Amino acid sequence: MSTKDIGTAFRQESELLVEQLCRALTDVIHATDERPALPPGAAKALEELNESLPETGCGGQKTIEQLLDLNHRAGGNTGGPKCFHFVIGGSTPAALAADLLATAYETITYTWVLSPVGVHMELQALDWLKELFGLPATMAGIMVTGGTMANFVCLAAARQWWGECHGLDVSETGMAGLPVMPVLTSGFVHASTLKVLSLQGIGRSNVQQFCGDDFGRLDYSAMRSALEKLQGQPALVIINAGEVNAGEFDPVEDMIRLARQHNCWVHVDGAFGLFARISPRTAHFVKDVEKADSVSVDGHKWLNVPYDSGYAFVRDHGLLVRAFRYSADYLPTEDDPRPTLGAIGPESSRRGRSFAVWSTLKAYGREGHQRIVEHCLDIAQHFAQQINNHPELELMAEVSLNIVAFRFNPGGLSDEQLDEMNNHLGEVVLSDGRFLVGTSKIGKRTIFRPAFSNWRTREQDVEELAQVVAELGHSLL
Ligand SMILES: Cc1ncc(COP(=O)(O)O)c(C=O)c1O
Repeated sequence: MSTKDIGTAFRQESELLVEQLCRALTDVIHATDERPALPPGAAKALEELNESLPETGCGGQKTIEQLLDLNHRAGGNTGGPKCFHFVIGGSTPAALAADLLATAYETITYTWVLSPVGVHMELQALDWLKELFGLPATMAGIMVTGGTMANFVCLAAARQWWGECHGLDVSETGMAGLPVMPVLTSGFVHASTLKVLSLQGIGRSNVQQFCGDDFGRLDYSAMRSALEKLQGQPALVIINAGEVNAGEFDPVEDMIRLARQHNCWVHVDGAFGLFARISPRTAHFVKDVEKADSVSVDGHKWLNVPYDSGYAFVRDHGLLVRAFRYSADYLPTEDDPRPTLGAIGPESSRRGRSFAVWSTLKAYGREGHQRIVEHCLDIAQHFAQQINNHPELELMAEVSLNIVAFRFNPGGLSDEQLDEMNNHLGEVVLSDGRFLVGTSKIGKRTIFRPAFSNWRTREQDVEELAQVVAELGHSLL
């Protein structure tokens, strides 16, 4: 590092780095279609990171060069067209550009005075999202890191409501002395929701899952009996709009109607399934979702904005205020008319997520986002056709949304042997590196479950996926 004072040195270096970065960004973004999904040999490249803290740094330019090189050799191409693991979206051009700007401006959206535009854009973008999803305009909203934290916000509001039903403000006095909170759902409940319930002192094993089959589909009459037994005690019903193995839905409409006959808070986890609302081809899966008390949804999945970005919508704004309020003499007061978003959600310090969300909705509108969703629906159907046409691949569930459950099945093997083989094949496919795709289970059966949520994915990509899984499966025989 130079001997000039740090301010002068960094200002000079900053100029050089911006030039280096503009060139690098051009290459990085242009190569998104081509970079391998997971570079083979990634683990080896990481050995370079095992060094002790540099006493004298090597400077920004060399460091960024090394970072680019390391990412080239060991970075997952999660924004690329061949990443189908978990449920991962890409980024629209406008969203990516805006997100880079949010970082360049070092935008903070804790409270209005730190970024009037960042805070106002968040409120505007949340209003647009409510319109896009057909949620009531009066619902409160907040941006968080993703589906997990969106569930956290919604269930914190639910817990606050439940405490108040018992005459207590749990954000002040905690849960001591209260009965166990009844939480009812189907077997589709997402692991992150259980994590959230554990964090909120409700306890993941207190969740009652009513499963009618191995898949985890709702046993409606068992849930109804359980609600009847509660005799009007307040309870929480969690509806899973989009489960991760085959993109199925709980019966949203029926569950909301049932919950409304009892004294229930209705939460809908719509991390990716809520996007079904924006295409007439799939909107029926999430009919009546506007009647819920809270709804969570992810942006970094099917909205195609960069990580991390999720949204919580809660009918009663006051519950968010009471659940998340905090104060200190140096913080804005509750009666300040300028919004402090950090006081109605879990994070105080918050980045400028609103830039990307506002920009993608502004740039492409409802129509553009409907096209992204329908493109992915088409890709899922096209992939399902590849599976059906291939003698050694077997479709394992009907394809209703953007996830296709299938397995390699060359014939002549028992289900147990096929499970073992597909588990092993899952690892082989990942180390091959051409695709990022995961395995899971439907009932006892091991499946591959590619999820298509990125505008970049083309028909040829999923045709190749079918060929690669079959080819690598064959190599194991
Ligand atoms: C249905 C559902 N809920 C919640 C989550 C958690 O979301 P995140 O990983 O963004 O925290 C996911 C993630 O895949 C999901 O599919």
